[in-house]
Amino acid sequence: MDEPIEKREAGMRVPLSAKYETSFAYKTIKDRLPVIVSSIADTLYRLKKNILDQHGQAAVEELKIIIGHMSKLRHEISTDKPVTPLTDNRSDTPVWNQYLQKQTEIEGQVPTWFSSPWLYLECYMYRRIQEAVSLSMRLQSLDVFETQKRSSYLLSDGAITTLLMYLMSVVDSCKTASENDLHFLFKEFLQVALWGNRCDLSISAGLGNAQKECILTKLESLFPNILVNDSELAWQRLVKTRSTRGSPGRIDIILDNAGFELMGDLCLAEFLMAGNLASSIHFHAKAMPWFVSDVTQNDFDWTLQTMCATNNLAISRFGAKWKERLKSGIWVLHQDDFWTTPFDYSVMASRSPRLYQNLSESDLIFFKGDLNYRKLVGDLDWNPETSFTTSLRGFSPAPLLALRTIKADVVTGLQPGQDVKIAAKDKDWMIDGKWAVISFSEPKQL
Ligand code: F6P
Ligand code: MG
Repeated sequence: MDEPIEKREAGMRVPLSAKYETSFAYKTIKDRLPVIVSSIADTLYRLKKNILDQHGQAAVEELKIIIGHMSKLRHEISTDKPVTPLTDNRSDTPVWNQYLQKQTEIEGQVPTWFSSPWLYLECYMYRRIQEAVSLSMRLQSLDVFETQKRSSYLLSDGAITTLLMYLMSVVDSCKTASENDLHFLFKEFLQVALWGNRCDLSISAGLGNAQKECILTKLESLFPNILVNDSELAWQRLVKTRSTRGSPGRIDIILDNAGFELMGDLCLAEFLMAGNLASSIHFHAKAMPWFVSDVTQNDFDWTLQTMCATNNLAISRFGAKWKERLKSGIWVLHQDDFWTTPFDYSVMASRSPRLYQNLSESDLIFFKGDLNYRKLVGDLDWNPETSFTTSLRGFSPAPLLALRTIKADVVTGLQPGQDVKIAAKDKDWMIDGKWAVISFSEPKQL
């Protein structure tokens, strides 16, 4: 069966109230969203002194207003109030308000927090948080999740050190490595980037979710939990690009979370360069704080800066090397508003033709994480045996590989009966982040 099973009329996604419980501290998504909003208020209270020192009393007054907006938002969510239009002046405000209008027409009433599609409302919550910040005069660049993201990176210190020391030895050995060695290493770094996705802070409602152990020693035991593994197809695509072109191609990485996950993505990028499998890497970050831990330009810059200031040689060397790559344009960091809209990727070509065109220039695009996956497959209620390519519904700017630990109840590309077998072992398999997919798709003519 290739069509998504719609729970309601065509085009509607699953509403928030229909979602499962997760195994994390704040059990339901319904409970988790207000907790995320409350934790922002707590963080902001703690920032008061710093803000007073840096920006003065007027900024503290604005901070209090932002905290007030958080209490209001929390109340609206907990009491399932109707969604309100945005009132700030960001360039994406009209798009969000038109979306709300359209959704109101579809539902025949103004959407409320627990009655409307989850993908839309979850995205809307983060946009509302940004609205509170954007309405201020002096605190426009405030990232309300910054403290959490930074401490998640710092708490992953041991795992990052081991990983970068390993990367240093790999980069040295790449010069003399055989094709077989590179093939093995490619799969290894893919898995590091994949399992790094367990470290997001939105599923844990902002509670610490850092990588405490060395990921490299865990790969073998985690391997059986990869339910779809198309890494071979991605490898063949990279090798084919290099042989037809005579030189390696452009790789894009649609980033997900800051902290340990970003470090795994950077290591994958470095390995692809060192192994002569990529000539340039284009990273794509979020244009505003998003889903607690998603990477913004600021997080990316902070990470490299912090690496440079570390006294571990491997970490500081790679920090400096990666800064240099960015300076020379071999690595590029992009931001686009489209990533922080509620739209799924099947409408990217019409909604954001420039971004789609840019991605079409890639030779292989890595999509990181759960939210990117949900947006790839439209967060629809697919039969898990539907092919991954079918579930993309025409989204095909270039060959692409999704690396995702499963945290939301949608998945495609499974073998017949595979879902039943996994469910017998782990009833929460679709939401606990313990299982994963590496799913590949490419345009037909390639
Ligand atoms: O339920 C898990 C969740 O909060 C989803 O709402 C969201 O898609 C996901 O976690 C975020 O995860 P990731 O950082 O992997 O995109
Ligand atoms: Mg994320």
